[in-house]
Amino acid sequence: MTAIHSNKILFVGGKGGVGKSTSSAALAVASARSGHKTLVVSTDPAHNLGDIFHKEIKHEKTKLQENLWGIEVNPERESKRYIQGVKDNLQGLVKSRMVEEVHRQIDMASASPGADEAALFDRLISIILEEADQFDKIVFDTAPTGHTIRLLTLPELMSVWIDGMLERRKKITDNYTELLNDGDPVDDPIYEVLQKRKEKFTAVRDIILDSRQTGFIFVLIPERLPILETKQAIKQLAQHALHVKTLIVNKVLPEHADGAFLEKRRKQEKNYLDEIDYEFKRQQTIKVPLFEEDVSDMDKLSIFADHLSTLLKEDAAK
Ligand SMILES: Nc1ncnc2c1ncn2[C@@H]1O[C@H](COP(=O)(O)OP(=O)(O)O)[C@@H](O)[C@H]1O
Ligand SMILES: [Mg+2]
Repeated sequence: MTAIHSNKILFVGGKGGVGKSTSSAALAVASARSGHKTLVVSTDPAHNLGDIFHKEIKHEKTKLQENLWGIEVNPERESKRYIQGVKDNLQGLVKSRMVEEVHRQIDMASASPGADEAALFDRLISIILEEADQFDKIVFDTAPTGHTIRLLTLPELMSVWIDGMLERRKKITDNYTELLNDGDPVDDPIYEVLQKRKEKFTAVRDIILDSRQTGFIFVLIPERLPILETKQAIKQLAQHALHVKTLIVNKVLPEHADGAFLEKRRKQEKNYLDEIDYEFKRQQTIKVPLFEEDVSDMDKLSIFADHLSTLLKEDAAK
């Protein structure tokens, strides 16, 4: 499996609060620092990339520093825009008497489970397909584990969804052909639009599944639940042929932390670190110490980035 330094696209996942956004930002900073044009994208509705960089990051590329740009994708906004886009797209294509029925179908579809994710994924797709040429590295800061897995496995789901739509379209078209009864089958350009979307999904799926292009990193902390969840997630992703190559073990008690209380915690932590070594033999792991304070400014982020920079070097040891 290719090491992540050579991957253009990196997905950073993990449980809420373990340090995904911090790690994504730090990886992006490390990459930008080494002269690579880098884009960091947040797909977590609980955005904090902007807080980390102390800059408002918009839904379009925002320059953060030399070689570094950021995007925050807002799923709700994307969902609305997506639905409107679909409607606009169809406006010119659908015979006027069909518009109402088509809109009704779209609204129904937009309320169905997974629609927000579909919209989010749509944005993700365009970022991957449109920005990949412009950047050396794209880091995705993703939502907590469950959402991310759903998101990454969405191309499969979407195919099913689109197939359903295609089928429904076909039925309606057949009905209209019958209704109008002028012998000619009704043209259905929507069918084509849906088919094109399906092709786009497939293109992105191919990129995500290619371990030379895309790498998956999980962030965890040395505690029981994050370890369990990470194990679970790695297994689940593997079922979809997505392989997590790298683990960032964050908030490890530093050597110099002293006191009887911390000593006790360190003992417990040792067990968990051993467990991590044992459970995740197939992953490259990198440890980042717990800082005295939150990683809330560029100085601290820069130190965090130092800890991750070996991940981006060619000779990164396994
Ligand atoms: N190594 C660390 N030492 C101290 N604080 C950290 C460390 N890593 C992350 N944090 C802090 O933990 C909190 C959660 O981190 P964040 O990156 O937002 O997590 P997530 O994106 O996984 O929800 C933030 O306040 C962040 O500054
Ligand atoms: Mg976050």
